[in-house]
Amino acid sequence: MYDVEKIRKDFPMIVNHPELIYFDNGATTYKPQCVIDALTGFYNDYTSNVERGEYATAIRADQAYARTRDVIAKMIHCETKEIVFLSNITAVLNQIAYGLSKNLKKDDTILISYAEHASNVLPWFRLKKELGVNIRYIPLDKEGNVILDELEKIFDDSVKIVSLAYVTNVLGSIQPIKEMTEIAHRHNALVAVDAAQAIGHLKIDVRDLDVDFLGFSSHKMCGPDGVGVLYGKYELLQKMEPIFLGGGMNARFDIDGNVILKDAPERFEAGTPHIEGVIGLTAAAEYLMNIGLDHIHAYENELRAYLIQKMLPLDNIEIYNPNNPSGPVSFNVKEVFAQDAASYLSTRNICVRSGNHCAKILHNLIGVDQSIRASLYLYNTKEEIDRFVEEVSKITLEETISIFL
Ligand SMILES: Cc1ncc(COP(=O)(O)O)c(C=O)c1O
Repeated sequence: MYDVEKIRKDFPMIVNHPELIYFDNGATTYKPQCVIDALTGFYNDYTSNVERGEYATAIRADQAYARTRDVIAKMIHCETKEIVFLSNITAVLNQIAYGLSKNLKKDDTILISYAEHASNVLPWFRLKKELGVNIRYIPLDKEGNVILDELEKIFDDSVKIVSLAYVTNVLGSIQPIKEMTEIAHRHNALVAVDAAQAIGHLKIDVRDLDVDFLGFSSHKMCGPDGVGVLYGKYELLQKMEPIFLGGGMNARFDIDGNVILKDAPERFEAGTPHIEGVIGLTAAAEYLMNIGLDHIHAYENELRAYLIQKMLPLDNIEIYNPNNPSGPVSFNVKEVFAQDAASYLSTRNICVRSGNHCAKILHNLIGVDQSIRASLYLYNTKEEIDRFVEEVSKITLEETISIFL
């Protein structure tokens, strides 16, 4: 039995600020007390660097840091050595693009989509500029879902990489990653998945999906900021060149410039990592797994269906993704600029995101540049949705102007 009231008590932001309705979980999530305790535990009891010290607190930090790799590997079903810690999904996608660029040449093709976040567009655009690779766009329906029947048609021998969000950040489409990977592999292309909006919302099994790379940010799954996870098939990680060079990632170097790198995952983790953040991520992953990702997913879908059912009758709004079963709800209030509507909601203690949500080529699909995004998570409630919908129903051009007077 999913007990949302019990879950809410675990989150100090909810306990300390019961007046706030936080529907901006796509941007970042609240942190449960156990994550905060993991961070303060490190600061209070065993602050030290990792993989450098022989004394007791350093060894304790080593063990806690290493344990996160085990826990995340268990969460997404891979081997511990296939988990790399970077600073966020943006760093992960840049690492993948940089690493794979070494095997790309002019006129090779990379497939992405109009619904991608900047982090999964700009690293590939750089390769277009520097190497002359082609960027081709995967066919999507009006709510951003990959049209599988048309996908095969855009493959040819030039396609080397497919890089796609598992769940898109504005329309919330859950992409058919497994089927897409099967097609990509038949064409000898590698698959990278941006799971920023999927992690912590649904069960992810990288072995079953058979993807080559997958990444996410800790802060979007109740964990600390500043930690990103890169999963890669081990043989691919071993062949991939790291972006960052420095301490911790090399096995040896000499005065002639000969450098021997460590094996993955360490070869990608140059310099002192965000130790306490990585340790805090264990607490977040265990917290979510204890509740059960299937339960979280089912609860979120129920909340979303409730939100859509309450919003559809409102005639002052236009919703862009009413039929997607999951993910954020993106909409506009007719005749009102998205940021003004969000500012109005803020005066009612409601937190939503407005703007283009870093998905700056999505307007090619939905026809508008700016929207309001309400993104729900495991601790939101139907009562919050009732209050939210009541406030949204009151938004008019006159109301939003009045808040600026
Ligand atoms: C789908 C997607 N990819 C990438 C990112 C970038 O995440 P970060 O800022 O944590 O690197 C986001 C953030 O909203 C996202 O939603």
